[in-house]
Parts: sequence; C-alpha cells; structure tokens
Amino acid sequence: MMSNQDGKWWNKKISRRDMLKLTGAGAAGVAIGASGFGGVMNAMGYDVFESVVGDASNKVEFYGKHQAGITTPVQKHVFFAALTVVSSKEDLRELFKKWTPLVVRLTNGELMADPSTNTRIPTSDTGESVGLDASNLTITFGVGPSLFDKFHISHLKPSELVDLPHFPKDQLVEEWTGGDLCIQACADDPQVAFHAVRNLVRAGSGKVEIKWSQAGFTSFPADGSTPRNLFAFKDGSVNPSKKEENDVIWIQPGESKSWLTGGTYLVARKIQMHLETWDRTSLKDQEATFGRYRDSGAVFGKKGEFDDFDVEEKDVNSNYIIPDTSHVHLARKSGAQMLRRSYSYASGVMTKTGAHDAGLLFISFQKHPSQFIKVQNSLGRMDKLNEYVTHRGSALFACFPGVQKGSYIGEAFFNAL
Ligand code: HEM
Repeated sequence: MMSNQDGKWWNKKISRRDMLKLTGAGAAGVAIGASGFGGVMNAMGYDVFESVVGDASNKVEFYGKHQAGITTPVQKHVFFAALTVVSSKEDLRELFKKWTPLVVRLTNGELMADPSTNTRIPTSDTGESVGLDASNLTITFGVGPSLFDKFHISHLKPSELVDLPHFPKDQLVEEWTGGDLCIQACADDPQVAFHAVRNLVRAGSGKVEIKWSQAGFTSFPADGSTPRNLFAFKDGSVNPSKKEENDVIWIQPGESKSWLTGGTYLVARKIQMHLETWDRTSLKDQEATFGRYRDSGAVFGKKGEFDDFDVEEKDVNSNYIIPDTSHVHLARKSGAQMLRRSYSYASGVMTKTGAHDAGLLFISFQKHPSQFIKVQNSLGRMDKLNEYVTHRGSALFACFPGVQKGSYIGEAFFNAL
C-alpha cells in the first residue's frame, strides 16, 4: 500500500497497478463491482482521477518528432479502428484537444479521466485495464480522404491522399473499407489495446463512431527471431533501416502539405488467408510462393534470413533463383520500399463456407501512397500468393506528425482549418 507520510498520496502518480493494490489492501471487503473502480475510491472519499504521471517501466514515450506506433518496436497486439466523424470540424478539433491528455494517461498505464470536467463519475474510465500496466501501449492517429470531402477542406488535402485504386483480384467489402479517421492501438496486452480505443471512442461520443475495427496479434519466439504469419513463414524480415527512415517513411518539409511534415501514410488491408487451401499445399509449393525457405526464412539460394540477394540472379539453366511469380521476387522488383507492421487475425468462421475467417491485417507506413501502389501493382495478377489470399478491406490514412509538450495531436492540421 502506498504511504501518505510525505503528503497526500492521492495527489501523486497512481498507476493502474497501484490502484489495484489500494483497493485490494486498503478497501478490504469492498468489492469492485458494477459501480467500478472510481465508485470504490469515491466511496472512500478519494479522487481517483488526479494522477498525471505514470510510473510504468514498459511505457513508450508519447511525445516526439513522430507519432509512436510506427517505428516503435512491434508490440504483440493491435486494436485498429476506422472511425466516421459525425460532427463539425470545430468539434473534431476540440475532441483532439480532449484526446491528447487522455492518450498520455493511457500510454502511461493510468486510468483515463476527463480533464475538461474533472468528473468524479465512476464511469469516466470503463475500468477493464485496472491492474494492467502500460504494456508498451502506443496510439497512432490518421485522417482519411473522406474527411476532407466531408469538411469541404480541399485546400488542406494533399493531392496524394485519395482512395487507393482498385487492384486486380480485390474483393473489398464496404464494411471493412475507408474511414474518416483511424486509431491504431498497439500493446503487449490485448485488453490494454482494446481499452484504449474503447475509451477514446467513448470520450468522443456524438462526434465519432466506429466504422470498422480489427484486432490482431503477433507472437515473438523466445530467441528474438522474426515472428511467423499464419502461413508459418517469417514475416517482417525486410524493412527499412534506421538510416532509410527519412527516405522511406517520414514526410520531409516541402514533400506534402506542411501540416503533414514529420508524418507518414498508413495503408491498412484486411487480407483473408485461405488456411485450408494452404494446408493442402506441399512445402515445396509453399516455399516457391514466397521464394523463401520456411524454416530459415532465407531466400532461395541463401542460408540466412537476412542475407542480401539479387532478385535478377539466375541459375545455370537461366531460370530465376527466386521464382519470378513469387511474392518476394515481385515485391522486390517493384523497387519501392515501405515499413510493414502487420498483425495476424482470427475472427471466427466465414458463414457461407465454414472456413476460417483469418488472415493478415496488413499495415504499412510510407511517405507516399504510391510506394504501396507500386508494390501492389507489381504483385498484380502474377503473385503466386494470390491463390491463397483475398483482399477484403482497405483504407488509407495520413498520420499526423508527433506531438510536442504543450501541443495536441494534429495541431498543425487543425490550426490550418
Ligand atoms: C496475406 C498477405 C501477405 C502475406 C502472407 C505476406 C507475407 C510476406 C512474407 C512471408 C515475406 C517475406 C519475408 C519478409 O521480408 O517479411 C514478405 C515480403 C514482402 N511483402 Fe508481403 N505478404 C502479404 C501481403 C503483402 C502486401 C499486400 C504487400 C504490399 C503491397 C507486401 C509487401 C511485401 C514487401 C515489400 C516484402 C519485402 C520484399 C523484399 O524482400 O524486398 N506484402 N511478405
């Protein structure tokens, strides 16, 4: 239990973990029931929502040049939500001002409060993250092309921020496509990620609504090697190095609208993976699909996962060593780069077929949507992977630059409105 020897403990930093200790020990016999955590603490006469600084060790810094959750080391879980804005641009600006301190609290591993009202209403935080720590939570925001049309602010719309073109073999469904805003919450705990989105949307009630959402996961082997996707292949081996970030990911001054300097573009694709078909395919064919060996993750003709390779290299019979219909061959040949930060999903069964509704929530970050378009066009109809996957959802968002202390998320954008 925290001591009050050196002052009022309730005015000090109180993490979600501390809260649990307090109710567990100090409020013996008082159950955290329907009234929630705040209810318990209020019953004891304490304001549980005073805390402003968290003490969690596994927390990611919120402030910085760029938003967190992009080049941040990948966490184990994502909860991704695309939102529809149902209010005015002035309301949205106020919402982002309100969201910013809430996001700071959440990433600190604290309960959320509503600073504008300093409310004691127990339901200020829905409470399911009580006892859970910061879990490396990051929350990343972006705006979609439709927002600019809705608000009639074409002068602020970068020319490249338009819906992605239709690609061969796309079978997109409206309910997993588009969105005026996105919130990507990543954390090492699935409930912490979900809690963040749930509470932010709740704080925006009457201003935003969820259009579609997707939870995802990725699992890291104990030896620190690259996680495997649901086709059992290492996924994420080739990504830009730190040195390449400004060339590949971060929008530089003069490269787009000024409010986007330091930001990036997020592409989300909900891609169903036909696990049943894959599981009937021989290992040889599976490996030829990617042009990489399943176990080591190395490209054909190499030993190590990270060995450099020349995609044009041919064998003595003048055949490409990495087959020209393979995913890696075609992706590399496009010449475009991006940061891939995808998560697997498993969302039950497809009602018509009884097949797994499982796949990849493909998420990539790039300074211009054309980078994604170039790779996807190169994969086109040729990619052998097409036999095993179907693109069901798609969205593009411009992610704001990072936030400096004293500022709020998207300030440069909202100031220009
Ligand atoms: C369910 C769909 C997909 C699966 C299962 C998948 C899986 C993989 C795997 C296993 C690799 C090789 C290891 C690695 O470098 O990470 C890879 C590489 C790559 N994939 Fe995908 N991928 C999918 C969709 C996409 C899409 C939609 C794009 C972009 C349009 C894309 C772009 C890339 C790129 C750029 C590489 C690296 C190529 C290089 O070596 O330079 N992938 N993918």
